Amino acid sequence: MSSWDSLYEQCLKCNKCALAEGRTNLVFGVGNRASEILFIGEGPGEQEDLQGEPFVGRAGKLLDSMLEMINLDRAKVYIANIVKCRPPHNRDPYPEEQDTCIEWLNEQRRLINPKIIVCLGRISAMRFIKPDFKITREHGLWFKNENADIMALYHPAALLRDPGKRPETFEDLKRLQEKIKEVCTNI
Ligand code: URA
Repeated sequence: MSSWDSLYEQCLKCNKCALAEGRTNLVFGVGNRASEILFIGEGPGEQEDLQGEPFVGRAGKLLDSMLEMINLDRAKVYIANIVKCRPPHNRDPYPEEQDTCIEWLNEQRRLINPKIIVCLGRISAMRFIKPDFKITREHGLWFKNENADIMALYHPAALLRDPGKRPETFEDLKRLQEKIKEVCTNI
């Protein structure tokens, strides 16, 4: 059994936190497991829970359009969330739920070994960039996380709520495109 298969099997059985009780499907992650780019969101919403895939609802459709703007698609990158089971009523995952579930994501990150990590939204950036990350001031800026270059974009759901943030996000996407040219060899 490959490391990926065994990780997936373990996740399927996971009931380490209360979110497991409410899940229809585990939302493990999707995309190219050998990608140089990893996108990290927060947690599954309703559609993700029903379909077992991250970012397939309205926010996901917007994410797809954002990727398209810089000639990426979800098959070329890997997309996962901090928590793999849907929090009830789409609330933010509690810190203790994040602490428990992030172990699985860290394992995925170790297997992928991405050159670039893109945090989708504040919760992800607070986990992977710094605890006091301020999305309004620090989106689009590059940081280092271990051996990866890392930046945060506004969460696509925030862009649906506030389309006024989209021009800034377009600039951030262009910065991402530049970084890809600089550090990636097979995107
Ligand atoms: N929001 C997220 O953070 N992740 C998803 O998979 C869907 C919506």
